Order: sequence, then structure tokens, then C-alpha cells
Amino acid sequence: MTQTTTLRDFPHFKGPNLTRSEKIQRKVVELLLNSTISEDEHDSSPVFELKHSSSCCQVGRILAEKRGLNVELAELICVMHDIYVIVEGKYEDHATRGAPIARKMLEESGDFTEEEINTIVDAIAHHSEKHIKSDNPYAELVKDADATDCSLYEQVEGYYKRHKSPESFLEYEKRIKKVRGELGLQTANIWRNNS
Ligand SMILES: [Fe+2]
Repeated sequence: MTQTTTLRDFPHFKGPNLTRSEKIQRKVVELLLNSTISEDEHDSSPVFELKHSSSCCQVGRILAEKRGLNVELAELICVMHDIYVIVEGKYEDHATRGAPIARKMLEESGDFTEEEINTIVDAIAHHSEKHIKSDNPYAELVKDADATDCSLYEQVEGYYKRHKSPESFLEYEKRIKKVRGELGLQTANIWRNNS
């Protein structure tokens, strides 16, 4: 028999009973829904950033579970990893520029310890360094989740080939293959180019 009485009801990201992580995730969505940056001025689009931060968060949870890492920290890192793009609509130096924005959001919530904030912010600050294999498991997790999540959208291969250096493109491919292998998925066709 399941013990439903001991389980918290799922609040669908509304109401007073959100967890500290759900509150931050909700804030990220609200930033995107209330964005006043026009799509012409945006390097990406609020729609893609909403989809990518949400789906990266889910990929991050799966990888954290697989790697024995803290799932809550992983989801927070992943949902906020592109926070600068979400707030400013620009990709340039977005990892380092996003770190103080994430720090402020976490500090203002009052829900996180200094150590937790440092872990989250440090991983966000370094997530663009896909060519570096660091000994920080959370930085590696968000790099892997970011690359893998992007590979699941159509035509990202072509975009990366146009906008990234050949070396950087290979680093993305290496990471995506590694993650797919880790998850027991095929590694021959790692990009989604269906239509
Ligand atoms: Fe990303």
C-alpha cells in the first residue's frame, strides 16, 4: 500500500507550498514570460530560453541521479545556467555575466547556504568551457546537460557548425556522445535533424 498521506501534494509551481528550488524555477519562468526584449534584439528567443532552461533542468536531474550528485543543486544550476541570456538576451560572455545574477537571486531568496550558492554559481560561471574537463562535478554536469539538451532540438548541428569553431564543435560532440553512452543510448546519430 502506498503511503500517500506522507507525500506532499504536487503544487504545479503555484501557491504557498513551493520548495526553495521550485521558487527559483518559477522565478526563471516569470523572467521569461515578462521579458520585454523583442525577438529582434534577442540572440535567441524567450521561447527557446524557456524550453531550454526547463529541459536542461530535467536532463541535469537525470545526470545527477546517474552520477550520485545532489539532484536539487543540479536542477538549480541547470535552470539558471543561461540566466544572463534570459535577462539580457545576449550570449556574449553569458556564463561569467550570469553568475552574479544567479548569486543575487539565490541570496535574495534567503533559502540557501553560502556553500550551496558558491557551488551553484561556480558551475554556472564555467559552463561555457566545454573544452575543459574540470574536477568540479557540477560544472561538468551542467556542461554535459547543456550540450546534450541542445542536441535534442532540431537543426542545432547546423547552427553549431556555423557559429562555433571546429574545435569547439568537436568538444560538444564528444560530450554528447559520452552522455548518451552513460545513459545507454545509441551514439552513432547524436544530432536531431529530422525535417
Ligand atoms: Fe545553455
